[in-house]
Amino acid sequence: MPDIHYVIRPMKYEDIPQVVQIDREAFPGEWVFRSQSAYKQDLDNPSVRYIVAYKRRGVPESGEEATWKLPWFKRLFSGERRLNVLENIVGFSGFWMMLQEAHIIAIGVRNSYRQLGIGEGLLIATIELAQILNANVVTLEVRASNRIAQELYKKYGFQVMGRRLRYYSSDGEDAIIMSTDNIISLPFQASFQQLKKAHAQGHPEILYQVC
Ligand SMILES: CC(C)(COP(=O)(O)OP(=O)(O)OC[C@H]1O[C@@H](n2cnc3c(N)ncnc32)[C@H](O)[C@@H]1OP(=O)(O)O)[C@@H](O)C(=O)NCCC(=O)NCCS
Repeated sequence: MPDIHYVIRPMKYEDIPQVVQIDREAFPGEWVFRSQSAYKQDLDNPSVRYIVAYKRRGVPESGEEATWKLPWFKRLFSGERRLNVLENIVGFSGFWMMLQEAHIIAIGVRNSYRQLGIGEGLLIATIELAQILNANVVTLEVRASNRIAQELYKKYGFQVMGRRLRYYSSDGEDAIIMSTDNIISLPFQASFQQLKKAHAQGHPEILYQVC
């Protein structure tokens, strides 16, 4: 197990301040629409699911224990607060369910943690969670200029279904609508399981505790 690893798990109330920070960083100009209170409301809404990826140091469990076994004054002067040592949130993803459709609200990763496989890990966990909640389609809107995110979604079989003109009120940019085929269909599952396996082999440092 690598010394530093990332865990993907459901979001908790105490994650909100860090998630809002990442939201501001990943979606500059749009963050005003997802304030701390908006996140709190979403966590209370059974149709909405958020997950986060956090960074941990040390072997799972024993690393955590080691920190907490230190006397309080050593923890104080160790220069590391619990948050930084154990649960430094590096990315998040959220979606809402409507009937059998999971609609991705956002996936965002801190700038300094990009291209490490975390965004893909969050998308994998999102699709799996949507499946557990009986979704048969995953859909989203993405900025027309956001090629990086579109590459990620295309990799997971999302196809362009249309365009919403001037969708983003902050600057009037168009949104591209992207959706999967039926996520419980055999062809989708075959490709998804293959991508998931390849991602797990390439990123053994990313762990899932979503369910
Ligand atoms: C989109 C985003 C979530 C990707 O996260 P990430 O952790 O950097 O992505 P990963 O390292 O997991 O990369 C997964 C895939 O994304 C695509 N991708 C990631 N970075 C890319 C880049 N710089 N150029 C092209 N494609 C890229 C690739 O398809 C990549 O797969 P590959 O490694 O096989 O090429 C991240 O860039 C981000 O937070 N962007 C700002 C917020 C945003 O645009 N969110 C999406 C709209 S909701």
